[in-house]
Amino acid sequence: MLNIVVCVSGGGTNLQAIIDGVKSGTIRNTRIVGVISNNAGAYALTRAKENEIPAFCISPKDYADREAFNQAFLDKLAELAPDLIVLAGFLVILPKQMIATYRDRIINIHPSLIPSFCGTGFYGLKVHEEALKRGVKVTGATVHYVDEGTDTGTIIAQKAVEVLPGDTPEVLQRRVMEQAEWVILPKAIDEIATRTK
Ligand code: GRF
Repeated sequence: MLNIVVCVSGGGTNLQAIIDGVKSGTIRNTRIVGVISNNAGAYALTRAKENEIPAFCISPKDYADREAFNQAFLDKLAELAPDLIVLAGFLVILPKQMIATYRDRIINIHPSLIPSFCGTGFYGLKVHEEALKRGVKVTGATVHYVDEGTDTGTIIAQKAVEVLPGDTPEVLQRRVMEQAEWVILPKAIDEIATRTK
């Protein structure tokens, strides 16, 4: 059984895709042992609670300094003891120690075809705004391992999505989520969970 922790900051539609995948069996051999958010208002926490998944808010605002937050975050992860950590719209700089401790066991979903439109500052709508500004005809999403860089780890999966005339950043973001993110992230987790050692 692959025990996973999902780290979130926002609406949690990728978390929902994972929850639905585990429930339907399209994500095999997997158990979500916890959801952690830095944002108390994240609807993703509500999604976790509605599905009886332990949900935790660990916010930098609640700690005296970054070091104290990092330690609290690491302690919670140690308590949950995941085999895999899934970053699903998690807008927090990860503690370096976390990358080292969970090397090759942290994956992230990014809303573009890396190496396009990624790196520092490329998150949320900004990614789609830049894709539209550049005039690309195809964009998509990428699942990759997380290393010390920003969106620089080994690519696991990608899925292309057409950019259509008249697309706004919001419309394009939704299409990339529906047609790519919610497909390749559950699939990547299932593949890791069913990989023979
Ligand atoms: C998604 O667009 C994902 O690609 C990016 O952050 C967003 C999270 O959305 N990393 P949600 O919270 O899963 O709805």
